[in-house]
Amino acid sequence: MARVRKGAGRPAPLRVLHVAAECFPLVKTGGLADVVAALPAAQRAAGLDVRLLLPAYPALRQALAGTVEVAPIGAAFGAARVALLRGTLPGSDVPTYLIDAPWLYDRPGNPYLGPDGHEWADNLQRFGLLGWTAAQIAAGGLDPEWTPAVVHAHDWHAALVPVYLAARGTAGAQGAHARTVLTVHNLAYQGRFPLERFGELGLPAWMAGPAGVEFHGDLRLLKGGLMFADRITTVSPTYSREILAPAEGHELDDVLRHRADRLSGITNGIDDAVWNPATDPAIAATFDASDLAGKAACKLALQRELGLASQSGAPLLGVVSRLTPQKGLDLLLSVLPQWLGAGGQVAVLGSGDPALEHAWRAAAQAAPDAVGVHIGYDEGLAHRMVAGCDLIGVPSRFEPCGLTQMYGLRYGTLPVVHRVGGLADTVVDADEAALREDRATGFVFGAATPDALARALRHALDGWHHPAAWQQVVRRAMAQDTSWRVPAARYAALYAEAVAQG
Ligand code: ADP
Ligand code: GLC
Repeated sequence: MARVRKGAGRPAPLRVLHVAAECFPLVKTGGLADVVAALPAAQRAAGLDVRLLLPAYPALRQALAGTVEVAPIGAAFGAARVALLRGTLPGSDVPTYLIDAPWLYDRPGNPYLGPDGHEWADNLQRFGLLGWTAAQIAAGGLDPEWTPAVVHAHDWHAALVPVYLAARGTAGAQGAHARTVLTVHNLAYQGRFPLERFGELGLPAWMAGPAGVEFHGDLRLLKGGLMFADRITTVSPTYSREILAPAEGHELDDVLRHRADRLSGITNGIDDAVWNPATDPAIAATFDASDLAGKAACKLALQRELGLASQSGAPLLGVVSRLTPQKGLDLLLSVLPQWLGAGGQVAVLGSGDPALEHAWRAAAQAAPDAVGVHIGYDEGLAHRMVAGCDLIGVPSRFEPCGLTQMYGLRYGTLPVVHRVGGLADTVVDADEAALREDRATGFVFGAATPDALARALRHALDGWHHPAAWQQVVRRAMAQDTSWRVPAARYAALYAEAVAQG
């Protein structure tokens, strides 16, 4: 472990630079933002010298406090005026660099998509600059006072960091030799661009081929990162194995198999200050495992808010999710009549695919007492749903980690999940053996089919009608350690290994 205590003769704390395109709460499209806010903070609390690099989107630029210009960068990636800033973001003590490049980043809304819902046409330059800047910092010199020993890049947006470092040779300006860790949060998103645009990246010509960022005739930024990163991680051990086979490899399984000796999985944690039922300011009443009265109050408040019948005896199943094919909410729609017929209620908070949005709205119109649907993005409602529901559904076809099932565990809201990726690693099915051994934390089904989901829901319903057993599972769920403590230590060990062995 790279531990890291201050004092004479002790090694200096390991310097780690996280590089990403989102950060909760100011720029968030999914769980990546939660991880990028919470992991560096947990690592800092554990004694690492951690910093964060993000594009200066308007929300971040405006919120950055104590801003200093670290270095002018000048013209780069089509932008005339680029500078590296440093400061801190609200609620965080992690020193944060922003790449100030108004031409590329000073745009409202989603970090990847324009107002028409299409990717910004210059995303190659926007995320090229992100990777390139991180590599400049890592190679030493851009911030004369601070050079990281490890650069931890997240997803395709930051996947060019190892590529740019490889392009300049391993040693940096001052002989520094930063190691790179690339975390794949979701292999489905790869950063794909026409090969003809390779020249915009300023990389050596050989990298336009199969040994570089080219893949099947296109540029794929994630593939480039996978080729050159010193360590590759995914956000759960099961997902790190699943992606080695064609079914879940999103075409990159071959590349990943080639690098399997560098690949491992570390299950995410959740921010236990933001997601804590005992202190959560967004919910109707706080509660903990020793007194669940507040949870019953949260359920009634949520039923009222969503216009559902105020029935404490009706099991309420909630979903907080992007509405994409990955998340399997079409499966839940198919089994909805059975669940409602058995006396259940459903609450859905999400947005995404217009057809799914439409179908869920229609389901709510057809049964307003039993189905509550909010299409949109609402952080407060997400908390009220996790607190007020009895069950949280995550019927994803694949799920690298998944965070909402862990929020559910913490709030005693039992997860109903497909046995894949991080869902398999974080939820224990309430089968007879697990109940007997007091290990059960939820309901797990083995196939992404309506039948399998329906069976899991029947199982959950059966549990609901046995309150003593249900309470036992709720308490076991709430006792899980879903914090960042263990994963932060695992990353620290991985960094130390990368620094020692390359
Ligand atoms: P993914 O990153 O694939 O979307 P995760 O489960 O890792 O899945 O993370 C999703 C995150 O986004 C969670 O923090 C969840 O609460 C949040 N979220 C998703 N949809 C919404 C929404 N409509 N409103 C509020 N929060 C949402
Ligand atoms: C991705 C994955 C999700 C994971 C999140 C944070 O968005 O889809 O499973 O929890 O990243 O790592």
